[in-house]
Amino acid sequence: MARKTVNPDDGILVVQQLIKRFGSRVVLDTISLAIEAGKTTAIIGPSGCGKTVFMKHLIALERPSKGKVFFDGQRIDNLPERKLAKLRTHFGFCFQMSALFDSLSVFENIVFPIRQHIKTIDENALDELVKHKLAVVGMDGFQRHYPAELSGGQRKRVALARAIALNPEIILYDEPTTGLDPITSDVINELIIKLQKELKITSVVVTHDMNSAYKIADRIIMLHKGKVIADGNAGHIREHPNDLVQQFIQGKVGQAELAALRLGGTRFETQFLPADFQ
Ligand SMILES: Nc1ncnc2c1ncn2[C@@H]1O[C@H](COP(=O)(O)OP(=O)(O)O)[C@@H](O)[C@H]1O
Ligand SMILES: [Mg+2]
Repeated sequence: MARKTVNPDDGILVVQQLIKRFGSRVVLDTISLAIEAGKTTAIIGPSGCGKTVFMKHLIALERPSKGKVFFDGQRIDNLPERKLAKLRTHFGFCFQMSALFDSLSVFENIVFPIRQHIKTIDENALDELVKHKLAVVGMDGFQRHYPAELSGGQRKRVALARAIALNPEIILYDEPTTGLDPITSDVINELIIKLQKELKITSVVVTHDMNSAYKIADRIIMLHKGKVIADGNAGHIREHPNDLVQQFIQGKVGQAELAALRLGGTRFETQFLPADFQ
């Protein structure tokens, strides 16, 4: 794929020639992308291909080994932490790791980011705000519940309400439907669509759930071995000529992996001699 050049103002989020290494291992290999405001972009690819690491660069939770990241035309990858805190209020996070606080009620979970950023808050206004955010995700009335009392899907919805607490322009989702049954996953998909439509939020969604990607995304970007190997709408991805893309979207194991698995099987068999069972 031809390497595109992107400019800082080509999108609300722009990464330019991004390289990320951990030790000698290259995880992201010269990625250039511009993410358009108001759209939903899905990042897909096999486990370990660098999706989460990529997403963390969008908000400088990881710093590039090389290359630049821009938000709203401003370079962010080199900003000090104190400047990033303010910047991050433009973002909502729905990360695997940013689970709800078990010891806090639903109400306090949602209020948490607000208290961090706004010093003087009228408690009545706070009640209204939480009520409104929970209503958006269909969870008004659960304010006094604790996370342990909620189903997996309900917890995700509360996490989403917390992500929109500060009226973000962008929401970053990391595997929002992983571990959920198909129906609950679809509720989350619908909410992502709703937030984009009604609040004009820009969404970046890391997922390996193709049903979800097809349903929610205006654009799907596939990473493989640290590079972008496909980039386009659902139709483009479905019809993509690259075998790696087809194997991934059809959930098939590639020839190379298959060969490795078979080889592993042979080794496994020959490891056990009759003497081992005596
Ligand atoms: N902080 C880190 N230090 C070293 N290696 C890391 C670190 N974070 C991620 N990696 C490695 O980078 C690769 C990509 O990880 P990740 O982005 O989490 O993959 P995924 O596509 O599944 O989200 C993995 O091999 C992972 O082990
Ligand atoms: Mg990940």
